Amino acid sequence: MGADDKVLGYDEVSLHNTSKDCWVIINAKAYDVTNFLDDHPGGGDVLLEAAGKDASEEFENAGHGSAARLMLDEYFVGEIDPSTKPSPKPAATAHLLSKEPKDDNAKSSGLLVKLLQFLLILGLAAGIHFFTKSSSKFEL
Ligand code: HEM
Repeated sequence: MGADDKVLGYDEVSLHNTSKDCWVIINAKAYDVTNFLDDHPGGGDVLLEAAGKDASEEFENAGHGSAARLMLDEYFVGEIDPSTKPSPKPAATAHLLSKEPKDDNAKSSGLLVKLLQFLLILGLAAGIHFFTKSSSKFEL
């Protein structure tokens, strides 16, 4: 048993979000970087911005080398239970989804209007054609 066996939730990590108590999640593992804030070559502010949150993407995007990855062990606090991941995205996705059909409806009703306009013009053209044909018959 030891720190390695700890399984933490996202909610638990989110409580450690200050410069005096700063944890981050990187690739499903929690790290206490409070004592690393002043020494981080990328600056303490980026760590503070990620405090209490999942910073996996930011960590990977910063292009950390093997030295940084080896340092991770030093700050490890526990594994993260992935099922505790908060999902603010569904609301955003739902918003997008509710918009998409609206866009589709707008598109199809636009097409319908165009089709009706086309049929109207076709009808008018046919009408004019028959009218001129029949009036030329009278002239003869
Ligand atoms: C315990 C976690 C972390 C450790 C041990 C760590 C360690 C390091 C180390 C050693 C470097 C120097 C370059 C290298 O060797 O790769 C570095 C650079 C950097 N780190 Fe981190 N880092 C951690 C977390 C983060 C996080 C969460 C972010 C972003 C939110 C971040 C952003 C950066 C950036 C932007 C640099 C580049 C600085 C530059 O090139 O000017 N780091 N980090």
